Amino acid sequence: MGVLRVLFLFLVIFIAYSSQHSYGLGECPEVTPMDNFKMRPMLGIWYVIKKTATNSACITYNFTATHTRNKYHLQQESHSIIPGKAHYHYNGELTVPNAVNPAKMKVKFALNLIPASYIVVITDYHNYAAIFTCQRIAFGNRKSVSILSRKRTIDDDYMQLILNTLKSFKLNPNELSTIAQVNCDKQDDGLELRSVSGTSRSGDYEWIP
Ligand SMILES: *[C@@H]1O[C@H](CO)[C@@H](O)[C@H](O)[C@H]1NC(C)=O
Repeated sequence: MGVLRVLFLFLVIFIAYSSQHSYGLGECPEVTPMDNFKMRPMLGIWYVIKKTATNSACITYNFTATHTRNKYHLQQESHSIIPGKAHYHYNGELTVPNAVNPAKMKVKFALNLIPASYIVVITDYHNYAAIFTCQRIAFGNRKSVSILSRKRTIDDDYMQLILNTLKSFKLNPNELSTIAQVNCDKQDDGLELRSVSGTSRSGDYEWIP
């Protein structure tokens, strides 16, 4: 691959992901993980209905179990809405540091050296879920909220319940973008980008949660 092509790919990834979070000063805010959470019924496909400012469409999360207790895989897929319609695949690893509190996880993506917290805030497993993630950076934090549904749409009652819960943690729902979940199965011949177990070390594009 030519140098220009590599630079172009980095630029595309950078544009697609550099805005997928909001910044704050100091520590990550305290967000209470869900009580009595179980990962098993959470596994499988979720459609991302809203997420902290992003340029991506058709975002899905696929949680799968591993052979190791308290360790799960997270596959994130999305399309870019910028020209080129790149299709992204990212593989993350979730771990539960303290089995007493399974809704409070850590996430690590292949290219990202610093793990982020990954907190299940609320879910009924069959319809809706909300995830809060936060990563400590030099002088502050960057955080992201995802509102998930088992379908490509979400019922208003569930959305209201989630928004009220987020507000109770002082997370601002106005920072969330609505994710287009239409024409997602259509094949396109855009760029195909996959993150592989990481050799690359730096760059803001690595922040995916
Ligand atoms: C979810 O991930 C698992 C494990 O990689 C895979 O077998 C399954 O096909 C995925 N589901 C979808 C709908 O992509």
